[in-house]
Amino acid sequence: MTTLQLDPTKPDELALAAQLLLDGRLVAVPTETVYGLAADARNPEAVAGIFTAKGRPADHPLIVHLPSADAISDWAVDIPASAWQLAQAFWPGPLTLLLKKAPRVSPVITGGLPTIGLRVPAHPVLHQLLQQHQLAVAAPSANRYKKLSPTSARQVLHTLDGRIDAVLDGGDCSYGLESTIVDATSEPLTIVRAGPISAQQLAGVLGRPVQQPREHSIKVAGNVKAHYQPNTPLLYASFVDPLPVQATLAPKLAILHLSPVPKTLQPIWQQQMPADAPSYGRKLYRALADADHAGADLILLESPPQDEAWLAVWDRVKRASYRG
Ligand code: TXA
Ligand code: MG
Repeated sequence: MTTLQLDPTKPDELALAAQLLLDGRLVAVPTETVYGLAADARNPEAVAGIFTAKGRPADHPLIVHLPSADAISDWAVDIPASAWQLAQAFWPGPLTLLLKKAPRVSPVITGGLPTIGLRVPAHPVLHQLLQQHQLAVAAPSANRYKKLSPTSARQVLHTLDGRIDAVLDGGDCSYGLESTIVDATSEPLTIVRAGPISAQQLAGVLGRPVQQPREHSIKVAGNVKAHYQPNTPLLYASFVDPLPVQATLAPKLAILHLSPVPKTLQPIWQQQMPADAPSYGRKLYRALADADHAGADLILLESPPQDEAWLAVWDRVKRASYRG
């Protein structure tokens, strides 16, 4: 299969992307978080193709992307007031709500779970595609299973070229990390995946606290310890403590750093990372992909700060470095 590269600024090409989706084909689409691998959520056969293309286990549930919050009721039932409040405050945007699924929703989407993940994405290209055609698409991140999530069309093609029908090139993603996922099926609401929207922001809208994610909370298949992984082994360490021996001995070291690189290390590749968490998050997957391409045998990432603003980054760094 040849993967078409479509330019959404050309109306014909955006229309072609919609037609492919309506025909049951797979199209990678830009979102404000990461690129998603989309299929028509009303077509279970098309959705099943996502699992084959990604090499993803069939019991890992997918998020359904909607044109607007009104469409929630097509997919979920028993929607609590808190979910409507969050939808109103943060959609379109990087927030996924877990709700009780409507009976007609295919178990192919939900991995057999009684819940469904829903979000209204903010990327103008995807938003327009969904709105114009009143489409809903199931879309996981557009990467091979467990690998780095793509934040550009080029990165999508790096692992999925020839495995999917098309990629719609909407430029670089503005957040670069996946959406915050909130379980809204029971009180208190719980974050199951940290992301661009913080517990504090959610609590601000609800007027009561939300539960922070427990580390590696394995609530469902799909929330796994080893995830978002570069091909090269990754270690994280503070530059204030003694450096890990593997890093000092690695013949070809790549470094993602915040403070100056210690003189005892001689990297073949290094990248200065931004000091604020949102900018760091935007660059993380790209930097790890670049470090992979540099031909290093180890990637050393200088530990980011420990405070709450860095939770989403820490979640990805821990999973990316996990060797079980
Ligand atoms: O920002 C994002 O959320 C991106 C873009 C493309 O929208 N999507 C994304 O999808 O990150 P994915 O499939 O890579 O990760 C979604 C995670 C799953 O691994 C699963 O843990 C959780 O969402 N999830 C989805 N549906 C769920 C459900 N019904 N119950 C519990 N967890 C669910
Ligand atoms: Mg993913």
